[in-house]
Amino acid sequence: MLEPILVFDSGIGGLSVLTEIRKLLPQHDYHYLFDNARLPYGDLSEQDLVNGCVALIEQQVAKINPSIVVVACNTASTLVLPALRDRLSIPVVGVVPAIKPAATISVKKRIGLLATPGTVKRDYTNELINQFAHDCQVILFGSSELVLMAEEYVAQGEINQTQLANILEPIKQADMDVLVLGCTHFPIIAQQIQQILGDDIKLLDSGSAIANRVKSLIQSTNKSSGHLAVSYTREITAGLYKALTSYGFTSVNHITG
Ligand code: SIN
Repeated sequence: MLEPILVFDSGIGGLSVLTEIRKLLPQHDYHYLFDNARLPYGDLSEQDLVNGCVALIEQQVAKINPSIVVVACNTASTLVLPALRDRLSIPVVGVVPAIKPAATISVKKRIGLLATPGTVKRDYTNELINQFAHDCQVILFGSSELVLMAEEYVAQGEINQTQLANILEPIKQADMDVLVLGCTHFPIIAQQIQQILGDDIKLLDSGSAIANRVKSLIQSTNKSSGHLAVSYTREITAGLYKALTSYGFTSVNHITG
């Protein structure tokens, strides 16, 4: 594996971003790193989040020599990008909730942001709203439960519909026409979310925008073979192992974070 693209998340959410990048760069080699020992990131203190992510990503960069790092986690992207860019000499791309396009397409000028408790309370998110959605009412919903449900869905192939409906009920009641999925875990269960919210609420995520950004930074794919490797910081269940191998990962490693 030569100079893979390193895609990082707390759990399986970053696979929603990896899938979008692979649509544009199918021949490239990828290394997916997830920090399931500390999931969910939405509940961590800011200092723990920054220190842990920077140390883990730096360690993996030294090991696999990637051409670029994609922080495919909204919660981490709100905090760790400046420190990572200081430490690494390769491009670092983060994810940004799709507030700007949501504000542009909203007819009601009432949009929602569904993210983790960490993301919804950050200054970063506030600034994004002030900058791009000042003409909209933006309603914030933070849920770590939904992160864990997306994890379970990937590992077990099932979702608890009643629990999901309960979490989404306040969104249904909020009279919005666009909902931003501001956590990379949520596009994985977008179909189930849409089913509960109905077609009058449009769901938006930033996966394809990130993929375009990554493509613009990649110089050449000549040496690549489309190899997929994955590393994680805590032992995974048999169900998740199976899901990762069916995704196409041929090298699957437990590392110490
Ligand atoms: C989490 O670990 O809390 C979710 C990560 C994200 O915000 O994408």
